[in-house]
Amino acid sequence: MTASPGRSAAAPADRYAVVGNPVAHSRSPAIHAMFAAQTGQHLAYERLLAPLDGLAATLAAFAAAGARGCNITVPFKFDAFALAARPSERARLAGAVNTLRFDADGWAGDNTDGAGLVNDIQQNAGRPLAGLQVLLVGAGGAAAGVLGSLVAARPACITVVNRTPDKAQALVAAHARLGQALGVGLAAATLADAPAAQQVVVNATSSSLAGAAAPVDARVLAPGALALDMMYGAQAQGFLDWAAAHGAVPRDGLGMLVEQAAEAFFFWRGVRPDTAPVLAALRGAP
Ligand code: ATR
Repeated sequence: MTASPGRSAAAPADRYAVVGNPVAHSRSPAIHAMFAAQTGQHLAYERLLAPLDGLAATLAAFAAAGARGCNITVPFKFDAFALAARPSERARLAGAVNTLRFDADGWAGDNTDGAGLVNDIQQNAGRPLAGLQVLLVGAGGAAAGVLGSLVAARPACITVVNRTPDKAQALVAAHARLGQALGVGLAAATLADAPAAQQVVVNATSSSLAGAAAPVDARVLAPGALALDMMYGAQAQGFLDWAAAHGAVPRDGLGMLVEQAAEAFFFWRGVRPDTAPVLAALRGAP
């Protein structure tokens, strides 16, 4: 009996990874395994720990071994931007890359964090952003990755507040032209001067790592506001408890994580997975 050519079964799986430091905690392998099973894509997705001074060498070795692409996580998103020969428009706006595709004619870079956040807010949490007042707390890498997509969703205005106000001003300045073009008001302020009664509040700071609840006063929350922390698990709990205690609807970053992964999957494979069952499975997991 002749062996079946069965290309997809016999061919080795296309390799991808999440690259970071640390990376052992990452839930991306589980997410992409579910996407692959759901869409019938033949791929393998692993975790890759890169030395803090060794991102370029780690990526070069992974690509040379035949891998097709990777996700980039903390603390390498800015470094990855520098390594992408062809960054997408939204990656350029963020100055950061969280997804690389190892194309033969140069690595393509994208940043799917902002689309992930906006999709989670609008589709999963059911809050269309158009016309709303939005507060973005933080002006580091996480905030930079999402501001462009928030602007593109056309809320009435976005205020960026940060412990170091200069960084909030710089982030707003970098997005000023886009805000003007889309009619979205953009402002920067200190944490203490954060505007009151915002309908959507996004915590993009790492303050919860130190066990703090929220770096802003509860007056920023309009009744029933959506208060989203980009972190999940124990790291988000302080902020979520604070939000719930002040009449807001708390939401962690797990939905954003799944949505940004779906955008990355599409960037690599040209196939869009269904995120709902994957998010439900993650929420059900211990
Ligand atoms: P990330 O990539 O996670 O965004 P980052 O670029 O180091 O990490 O940014 C961390 C963000 O959390 C910054 O906005 C930081 O404020 P500063 O720019 O003033 O440093 C904010 N942050 C960290 N700890 C904080 C705290 N205890 N209170 C308020 N903001 C804090």
